[in-house]
Amino acid sequence: MKKDKTSPIGMFDSGIGGLSLYKPIKRLLPQEKIIYISDNLYSPYGKLTSEEIKKRSFKIVNQLISLNCKLIVVACNTATTNSITELRKKFEIPFIGIEPGIKTAALKSSSGVVGILATKRTLTSKLFYKTSNLYASHIKIIEKDGSDLVELIEKNKIYESNTIKLLKNYLKPMIKNKADVLVLGCTHFQFLKPIIKPIIKNKMKIYKINTAIAKQTKSILINKNILNLISKKNKNDQFYYTGSNEGLISYLKNPKTKKITI
Ligand code: DGL
Repeated sequence: MKKDKTSPIGMFDSGIGGLSLYKPIKRLLPQEKIIYISDNLYSPYGKLTSEEIKKRSFKIVNQLISLNCKLIVVACNTATTNSITELRKKFEIPFIGIEPGIKTAALKSSSGVVGILATKRTLTSKLFYKTSNLYASHIKIIEKDGSDLVELIEKNKIYESNTIKLLKNYLKPMIKNKADVLVLGCTHFQFLKPIIKPIIKNKMKIYKINTAIAKQTKSILINKNILNLISKKNKNDQFYYTGSNEGLISYLKNPKTKKITI
């Protein structure tokens, strides 16, 4: 199949986290068809090794390319920080990734202390190490591995006392150390905002990067001359899953879901 302007955009994550990126992209580019893969049979990625994450990313990207995608959004900080460099070397298709917004956080912080909630694999990745060394070596970063939260979010247990308790434990040392910016370095954590806000009150700010990534997606499509110019909304988005479709069904309105073995 030949790729053209009407070919779909591919997206993937270890589960439903990437939907926090799917939504602003679809809002900005309603005419584009999106194919989303929730790799939840292998979730959470944060508990896999870096090699395993690369393997999953390569397999999923191959699958999205065989579904004729024209651009791929790696809608997962853990997959981006562990595999995007290799993906770009291996595949010609354009990639958009998401990584913790540590540069903005360092610029916006007045106290010089920033809190970051991400998965262990993101926090220990070479890319995160490089970025934080480059842009945030002058500030204090309080890192917390929030991998256990990913599993609770997948099960739609956001408002349960267990989730709130866990979150409070992660945020406490940040507040205590006077962090004034909180980086949500995992796409799943966007869904925690309603319960994060009452905990942090106005002590820490969260800067949005998802809309910036949607804009970046649009500008790459324009630059590569692959933006779909049809004005009608595309209602054929397809959501594949490798494990179960429960998460997709609870976070979206009537999604078209299909199991896939990758
Ligand atoms: N949503 C992912 C991220 O942005 C991955 C979470 C996980 O599977 O551990 O990091």
